[in-house]
Amino acid sequence: MHFSLLEKFGAAALVCAWLIYGANFLGDTLVAVRGEAQAVVAATRDAAATEEVAAAPEVDLGTLLAAADPARGEKTYGKCKACHTIEQGGAHKVGPNLWNVVGGPKAHISGWGYSEALASMGGSWTYENLDAFLSNPKSYVPGTKMSFGGIRDAADRADVIAFLRANTENPPPLPEPAPAVEPAPAAEPQAAQPLQVAAAAEAATPPAGAQPQDATMLLAAADPAVGEKVFGKCKACHGADQGGPNKVGPNLWDVVGRDKGAKEGFKYSAALVSMDGVWTYQALDAFLTNPKTYAPGNKMTFAGLPKAEDRAAIIAYLRLKSEAPQPLP
Ligand code: HEC
Ligand code: HEC
Repeated sequence: MHFSLLEKFGAAALVCAWLIYGANFLGDTLVAVRGEAQAVVAATRDAAATEEVAAAPEVDLGTLLAAADPARGEKTYGKCKACHTIEQGGAHKVGPNLWNVVGGPKAHISGWGYSEALASMGGSWTYENLDAFLSNPKSYVPGTKMSFGGIRDAADRADVIAFLRANTENPPPLPEPAPAVEPAPAAEPQAAQPLQVAAAAEAATPPAGAQPQDATMLLAAADPAVGEKVFGKCKACHGADQGGPNKVGPNLWDVVGRDKGAKEGFKYSAALVSMDGVWTYQALDAFLTNPKTYAPGNKMTFAGLPKAEDRAAIIAYLRLKSEAPQPLP
């Protein structure tokens, strides 16, 4: 059998993608294990900390799908309609018709013009794979031609998947919800893994829809001086001056662009330390909107800033708390 140059390159790219994925996964596992180890140390020192770690909600896909509602999913599916039809025999648009996609092979419409990346991926659209793809299409299928930022919220994704399932003739059985977690899961390193993966997926996914643009536009117009005032709400727990001490929370000098949970000498929760990625503007905006949903189990006891303008102002202020401020988006 002869392989064309293109196929060889395709195979090489796939192997690379897998190697990178593998290395990432291993790295994540190590980080998660390190985070857990820290949590165990913190927890034995401080009974209250144990409670916080134990309270970390981690919702598995099985549980989310069991609670998912296809009708809600149909609403979220509004975001997909510009490119997809779903009804049996529906036309292909920018993207393929999605009837019968759940459980089907990837690139399930034979003869449709998929990207090389998706066409050569192999495997089927299991619930887990759909969840990963819809969370961040570009990172799940590097090179995909689905230009869609992803659905950030795991429950929203589950709803959409339930809607796709409702439009599939013989869908595979739903995954079992995970059994309820025993108290004090912090003792087992593996316990952090699903949480960490969920958190990483969230972090990697820019919010879909209008919000990211809004947040970015707001940031461009935000006034750091206003941000300094709003930062008054944070001062009980955070300083932001260069070389300043960690308080209840870590010092926030140079936090924009810094790895999450990475300020030296500060004892983070396992939840935060095991999160992937850096504090991008979007990540900060999401975290400050609702710290507990963005990083379930983190120990920042702060309800969040509901007003987007306040968040943008604070982020503009924090951005300047650096020797080399990150460029504005
Ligand atoms: C801007 C257009 C666009 C939007 C919006 C979009 N898609 Fe897609 N979608 C595509 C394209 C193009 C492909 C083919 C990707 C490829 O070949 O790499 C695709 C592929 C898919 C596939 C794989 C289908 C198969 O046969 O393997 C699924 C599943 C999917 N999209 C679901 C969704 C869902 C659900 C949404 C909304 C939450 C959505 N898409 C939003 C364009 C879009
Ligand atoms: C009651 C105390 C408290 C308040 C108020 C508070 N924080 Fe925090 N913050 C913390 C703690 C504790 C952490 C570490 C969380 C963890 O490890 O889970 C943290 C973490 C952070 C992080 C992540 C830092 C890193 O190094 O990863 C940022 C960013 C942040 N806070 C910003 C803010 C901002 C902005 C405000 C005000 C709008 C605020 N915080 C209000 C206690 C607080």
